[in-house]
Amino acid sequence: MIIAVDGPVAAGKGTLARRLAEHFGFAYLDTGSLYRAVALRVLRAGQSPEDGAAAAAQAAAIEPADLADPRLRDEATGGVSSLVSSHPEVRARLLAYQREFAARPPSGAAGAVLDGRDIGAVVCPDADVKLFVTASAEQRARRRHAELLERGEAVAFDTVLADLRDRDERDRSRAASPLKPAADAHLLDTTNLDIEAAFQAALTIVAGGKAP
Ligand code: DC
Repeated sequence: MIIAVDGPVAAGKGTLARRLAEHFGFAYLDTGSLYRAVALRVLRAGQSPEDGAAAAAQAAAIEPADLADPRLRDEATGGVSSLVSSHPEVRARLLAYQREFAARPPSGAAGAVLDGRDIGAVVCPDADVKLFVTASAEQRARRRHAELLERGEAVAFDTVLADLRDRDERDRSRAASPLKPAADAHLLDTTNLDIEAAFQAALTIVAGGKAP
């Protein structure tokens, strides 16, 4: 069984996807971490995020250690990951790994939960359940800001909101796999839901099966 969880930055999809995976005993893949790993490698190599060929070569060279890098979740890494993810050749490089993970989840798990931007639309168009998690920009910025403060990154709220709007715009307007709900995705708006309520709503959708 494959559950696809897509949505914009800080909508709560990561927490939700992780909890769903735990609940069902499925494997979990945070596909954003792959794009973040490419971004870190590009930054460290002193390359330009605009250089699609260089970024694609970095995508092909990702190692497990990259995915455990403490700088993966930094705000700066997130910004650059949004840039490198716009290159079709980078997306193509990461596609096989994601599909393989979904088709044959590690450790013999009976299913997989993948979260990202294009899981339901491109990576796993045949996923059994597709969730598209949203929340207002202000609410997402509040959550992201709190998360950054907790990590010791002192950033102004207005900066977080502006960055988030920039990334939304870039993720939605890129030509290759733009962020948008798959036609058969269930929309889940978490603006007024805490984590537990969002999880319960997701469980109800998963229990309801494939069709919205
Ligand atoms: O979910 P995240 O913030 O960790 O994702 C980082 C960037 O990677 C995000 O700006 C868009 C990109 N991304 C993508 O294009 N496709 C995915 N499936 C996951 C992430």
